[in-house]
Amino acid sequence: MKVLAVLALVAAAAPFLRAAGQSEEGAGPLPFAVGAAPAGCDVAQGEWVRDDDARPLYQEWECPYIQPQLTCQAHGRPDKAYQSWRWQPRGCSLPRTRIMRGRAGAVLQRDADAGDAAGKRMLFVGDSLNRGQYVSLLCLLHRAIPDGAKSFETVDSLSIFRARDYDATIEFYWAPMLAESNSDDAVVHSADDRLIRGAPMDRHSSFWKGADVLVFNSYLWWVAGDKTQILRGADNDPSKDIVEMKSEEAYRLVLYQVVRWLERNVDAKKSRVFFVTASPTHTEGKAWGDKAEGANCYGQTSPISDASYRGSTSREMMRVTEEVLATSRVPVGLVNITRLSEYRRDAHTQTYKKQWVEPTAEQRADPRSYADCTHWCLPGVPDTWNELLYWKLFFPSNDQFL
Ligand SMILES: *[C@@H]1O[C@H](CO)[C@@H](O)[C@H](O)[C@H]1NC(C)=O
Repeated sequence: MKVLAVLALVAAAAPFLRAAGQSEEGAGPLPFAVGAAPAGCDVAQGEWVRDDDARPLYQEWECPYIQPQLTCQAHGRPDKAYQSWRWQPRGCSLPRTRIMRGRAGAVLQRDADAGDAAGKRMLFVGDSLNRGQYVSLLCLLHRAIPDGAKSFETVDSLSIFRARDYDATIEFYWAPMLAESNSDDAVVHSADDRLIRGAPMDRHSSFWKGADVLVFNSYLWWVAGDKTQILRGADNDPSKDIVEMKSEEAYRLVLYQVVRWLERNVDAKKSRVFFVTASPTHTEGKAWGDKAEGANCYGQTSPISDASYRGSTSREMMRVTEEVLATSRVPVGLVNITRLSEYRRDAHTQTYKKQWVEPTAEQRADPRSYADCTHWCLPGVPDTWNELLYWKLFFPSNDQFL
């Protein structure tokens, strides 16, 4: 028993005892690293533990940044247990939330310690799931910054949270397919007839330049259809040369473009890059053994407890992500949220969100028919994604996929 207890203590302290995570070329610690992950610790494997003391990390009503599509309680969700689960990785623990909270501020602060005058810029790039994670991060840390010393604004595709005393920003840039596409309007867009531009993504990437921490995602819009159209040639090219491709292959091309852009524009000695994996949906109850006709996430109040459950997330898309990111000369940390989120059939917004179009009487008679089983209530699952992101930022592993 004693030996075990000592081992556990050593394991807990290991991140603080070991040298900070080294960058790929062994050129010194990665920026932002304060320690290294314990060897063999894969935070993506583990289980959800009900923890009413530690959760939720903030209240829905006290965070002014949550968009009305994600404020489930304000829209009448009758249950609250979905807010009370904590992710417990197998064989290692995420830093306690108190430490996490301190660290949240530290992303902004550390440059002051280093005597670096310029403020830091953290930028999320992607779709509405990534925006949910962005907002979750704002909710996690905004209380550390006094009113009057922070501001938030959205102009077109870019949202900016400013912490004035730190001269720092946390931003979100809407680019659901990363490449330029006909889905780029941040307000009016639809996943049908997705068309991307084959040319380099200069219009988008000009906004990404100079970020100290970049957090990408892109999945949902690719799997909205088997095929994606690619527009070749310039804006004003009258020939409208359009080719159609399997979505996975189009995604592969675009992800390669992103990686090449990173290699040309990101200084790995100053900046860190992350990619958040696919956020799963829960649109079919039969996937977890609920055979009732039309069953989906609607009315679910507990996570899937069968540890062997595998959702419908595209393995092919995940393979493309891993293959392409592995080629990057700028290290890209994989924040693998897929498996842990797959268990959370209970945590989607369901019908408890602002509806842009009023549901019809027929839909109201069967709420499952218009339940949103894609997006997540806040507080909720995206808070855990941020804990993983922070873990990777401050305690990097030598394996980019762990
Ligand atoms: C993420 O984790 C799951 C489960 O451990 C694994 O199957 C998948 O290949 C990993 N990578 C990506 C890119 O999702």
